[in-house]
Amino acid sequence: MRATLLIENIGELATPVGSSARAGARMRELRIVRDAAVAVDVETIAWAGPASELPRLDGPPPERVDARGGAVVPGFVDSHTHFVFGGYRDDEFFWRAEGLPYMEIHARGGGIANTVRDTRNASAEELEASAAARLERMLGLGVTTVEGKSGYGLDLETELRQLEVMRLLDARQPVDIVSTYMGPHSIPVEYKGNPSGYIDFAIREVLPRVKEGGLARFCDVFCERGVFELDDSRRFLEAARSMGFGVKLHADEIVRLGGAGLAAAVGAVSADHLLKASDDDLGAMAEAGVVATCLPLTAFSLREPYAPARAMVDRGLAVAVASDLNPGSCYSQSIPLAAALAVLYMGMTIEETLTALTLNAAAALGLAGDRGSIEAGKLADLLVLDAPSYRHLAYHVGMNLVGAVVKRGKIVGVRA
Ligand code: NIG
Ligand code: FE
Repeated sequence: MRATLLIENIGELATPVGSSARAGARMRELRIVRDAAVAVDVETIAWAGPASELPRLDGPPPERVDARGGAVVPGFVDSHTHFVFGGYRDDEFFWRAEGLPYMEIHARGGGIANTVRDTRNASAEELEASAAARLERMLGLGVTTVEGKSGYGLDLETELRQLEVMRLLDARQPVDIVSTYMGPHSIPVEYKGNPSGYIDFAIREVLPRVKEGGLARFCDVFCERGVFELDDSRRFLEAARSMGFGVKLHADEIVRLGGAGLAAAVGAVSADHLLKASDDDLGAMAEAGVVATCLPLTAFSLREPYAPARAMVDRGLAVAVASDLNPGSCYSQSIPLAAALAVLYMGMTIEETLTALTLNAAAALGLAGDRGSIEAGKLADLLVLDAPSYRHLAYHVGMNLVGAVVKRGKIVGVRA
């Protein structure tokens, strides 16, 4: 067997298995191998299993990683972020800490609108530089694939600029970037009181350009009371689908509007947030195979009750966990804190949490076929932990345990 990289002295290999989302109780089924090794051939995993059974290699591998008895898990997939933006909104963070609700700030013309102004005023170079720094931090936390949304431009030019920055960054640094056009993120001042007019604009003027430039794989909408309600959301998502985009929704985050049910009806790949989703709508999602993406860092930052992840898994949904990194509701890319919150406050087991951060998050991006687990033939995206077990990912609360990151078979980050 040919190997360009051999990872040895793995105390514990822990990974979900499969090429599609794992739902319900199957989220808890990990493959766990003690005293393991992983052989990598260029970009992909050639073999993973007990070190004692490693097939004979054609020659000494040019590169080796010594896991020093630590655990190895798949690279994290952060399937929901807004990492390209201008400016900051620290004021708002402290207003919320004093009790001002997120949507009240939004309704007063603050919130997203401030980031829209700062993003419109930022050059592509400025956006790229700040986004690159955020990606570097994510990579250090073990994120090997990230989704990024537009939605801080709202006009044609700035939306395209955000998406182009993501395309450039995808080529210029190791983390794979999956782009989402999220024009309907907020109603711009130009369309105040006229969300339907803005949706018409997004469908007629922006979607064709995004399509033509191959700038996004998905489209997303902030389906929320006072932002884009069900009819406008549906119209946008159906138009996007008919043009070949995959679709996602910010659904039932603040108010129970029925976004989760809409996700099922339009065949969305995921519905995200879901803090207030109804039981019936969650059932419809389970039936339609929509991944339920929970964003515990946002609930934490907004001091809202967490999404009912325990109940979701128990009723057979495939749950993913992502960061929602953005300058407003949740300025954090802390996968370690998300993992701890998932276990402590959303009632997920650590096995479910690992699946939610890897294979199911990959499924939420339509990528479970080539990543999200450590299996022969998949991309060699994996993490060596400075800890003896994957269980420490939640137990060592809020701490980064990533010692080394292997991305597409290359060592891209190593502990000192
Ligand atoms: O996922 N809810 C809407 N969108 C983001 C927040 C964006 C912002 O506040 O800038 C979210 O929470
Ligand atoms: Fe979001």
